[in-house]
Amino acid sequence: MTTTTCEHVDISVDAKVMRIKLNRPDKKNAISRAMYAAMADAVVASNTDSSVRVVMFEGTEGCFTSGNDLKDFMVEPDIGTESPAGRFLGAVPQAQKPVVAAVTGMAVGIGTTLLLHCDLAYAAKSAKFHTPFVNLGLVPEFGSSYLLPQLAGPRRASELLMLGQPFDAEHAKALGIINDVVADEKVVEFTLEKAQALAAQPPSALRRTKELLRRHSLDAIMDQMKAEVDHFGHSLTSPEAAEAFTAFMEKRKPDFSKFD
Ligand code: COA
Repeated sequence: MTTTTCEHVDISVDAKVMRIKLNRPDKKNAISRAMYAAMADAVVASNTDSSVRVVMFEGTEGCFTSGNDLKDFMVEPDIGTESPAGRFLGAVPQAQKPVVAAVTGMAVGIGTTLLLHCDLAYAAKSAKFHTPFVNLGLVPEFGSSYLLPQLAGPRRASELLMLGQPFDAEHAKALGIINDVVADEKVVEFTLEKAQALAAQPPSALRRTKELLRRHSLDAIMDQMKAEVDHFGHSLTSPEAAEAFTAFMEKRKPDFSKFD
């Protein structure tokens, strides 16, 4: 077993499963630039590491992730393809080995959109999902403006991405965002069993199957991500986002009434 631990992300490989654990519970596992960099490197490394057959994402007890670190967004609003977040966003859709996720607690922003790229995803009964991009003066990311309409239909996608209201695990299952809902205390173990079952499959057939399943959508996803990044970059420095981020830091409701 090899283990690489960096601040706030624990990465380990055991029995052919690479586990990427977000571990910053005091900030609800908000993903900083350093965390994105570590996760991007791990996913890229998994492609050529023969000791890895499956990649598994998980959070900590009661929390998957609260999404992008909003302080990082305010200080360094860079999400270009060479930025840590950009590298991660590029690496996951192009991962060559199956990617699975165990969702515990809150899965905000990229915590939900990451699941759209996972081959298998399971969530705790108490998990909550949220795509509050518009609420923050932003636009959807990680290909979600393409993948969500494909998965859940355009009406549901508009509801999730425009109204930006949280939803529960049963709704996530009904929309096709996760495979199944599992008891809170069992979700990580259950997902690990699925990851191990994938790791026991013939690896070449598995990789080729993943490639075939993605064959028609990958170019479209990458193309939509480029458009999203353009809009996202623009909106990150907008007065609307500044009001949303400041309101979050000041623990108050944002006021968008003054914007046209
Ligand atoms: N970025 C930076 N810091 C974050 C964060 C984020 N995305 N989410 C939570 N934190 C920090 C809080 O600022 C707080 O820090 P403090 O203790 O120094 O004040 C700490 O984590 C705990 O968060 P808190 O809001 O008190 O926890 P909660 O259980 O009441 O609420 C959330 C949890 C996830 C619902 C809430 O924190 C939240 O809405 N976070 C922002 C989510 C978001 O908009 N993400 C971006 C999506 S693009």
